[in-house]
Amino acid sequence: MSVMTPQRVRVRLRARAADEYHVLVGAGLLTQSGTEARRSLDPRAQRLALISNEKVFGLYGAALLKSLRAAAFSVEPFLIGDGERHKNLRTLEQVLAFLASLGLERTDAVVALGGGVVGDLAGLAAALYLRGIAFLQIPTTLLAQVDASVGGKTAVNTKTAKNSIGVFHQPRAVIVDTETLRTLPARELTAGWCEAVKHGAAGERSLFDRTVEFLKLEPAGHAPSSDAALARLIAAHISFKASIVAGDEREDVGRTDYRSRRILNFGHTTAHALEAVTGYRRFRHGEAVGYGMLVAGEISKRLGTLDGSELELLRDAVRSCGRLPRADDIAPTRITGALASDKKSVGGSVKWILLERLGHALIVDGREISARVLRDSLRAALHKTS
Ligand SMILES: NC(=O)c1ccc[n+]([C@@H]2O[C@H](COP(=O)([O-])OP(=O)(O)OC[C@H]3O[C@@H](n4cnc5c(N)ncnc54)[C@H](O)[C@@H]3O)[C@@H](O)[C@H]2O)c1
Repeated sequence: MSVMTPQRVRVRLRARAADEYHVLVGAGLLTQSGTEARRSLDPRAQRLALISNEKVFGLYGAALLKSLRAAAFSVEPFLIGDGERHKNLRTLEQVLAFLASLGLERTDAVVALGGGVVGDLAGLAAALYLRGIAFLQIPTTLLAQVDASVGGKTAVNTKTAKNSIGVFHQPRAVIVDTETLRTLPARELTAGWCEAVKHGAAGERSLFDRTVEFLKLEPAGHAPSSDAALARLIAAHISFKASIVAGDEREDVGRTDYRSRRILNFGHTTAHALEAVTGYRRFRHGEAVGYGMLVAGEISKRLGTLDGSELELLRDAVRSCGRLPRADDIAPTRITGALASDKKSVGGSVKWILLERLGHALIVDGREISARVLRDSLRAALHKTS
């Protein structure tokens, strides 16, 4: 593995500045994880529980174990099942029992190696065990690298709702090794790029342009060839997310301004509905967000807030993320039915993240969107990508 000088992003929470942590981004960083763990964990830390799944551990477990053990940690792995359906209370209980069986102490830590599923679940286990011990995120999907591993949201799903049980628990450090993306399936890359487009579209126009430029040079669906350019772009996404999280760590439901954490849910209102009506089988989450952003864009245009030319740029951006599974066979009424039970609703109405312009989100109460605008927007967006 080649190691280049990593990008370092500082995540500083305005409300609790003392809890700041660093995100390291670069190629080959798995081999430096031990050093980074030593730097960021309590000096008394001795034991680490490494949570992963069989696939990711098979690819990267040995390199990570070697680096952590070389830094004098005693490390024991625990592998959970692969996939969203394992992000549940049962797996959480198994992981907690594992932490207890190792006799981890308050100064020890959990290490999450994998995508968002492993990260969300391991983070929650770390938050609960002994009322909270440290954890390190080592994300290995693009989605987890640009989004899920930073910001401290942890959760598991229940039968009725996704991410409905969780807490905010910030990692002590995040180590992003861009080389791990080389083994990521094309669809997972597409899903990650959709979440990356989301950041720029909702909150930072220059990041949107930069992401689209990168995707023009590096065809989506293929592992990018330039590690340095990729690391810089991922670091820019993390900086953006960190800037939003810093000012609104716990996603204050009372906030409706364009810097509130809620803007990161751009595209998610429809995405959750799309995932639900297709039984969580057709779309990767990021792919559904791709459609969701288009729906929000169509609504924004119909409400007169977003210019048609900017909607066209958004469409191009989503297209450049890669091919999405078809959605034109899903009747808008099925989606509107599912929207009624969206967990992000406040006071009984869904809050939509729309666009005032690219890079500037607008939070709108669902009651301000007529049934006709919603139906027309769904029809337009779900038919217009491939
Ligand atoms: N906490 C947050 O802020 C936040 C934000 C966004 C999403 N999420 C959560 O993240 C989850 C989705 O994460 P995800 O998209 O990473 O899915 P995932 O964790 O299921 O990973 C996708 C697939 O890729 C495999 N994989 C992971 N790394 C690989 C690699 N380097 N090479 C080959 N295969 C690899 C996994 O085993 C899995 O099969 C959802 O549960 C979602 O709710 C959380």
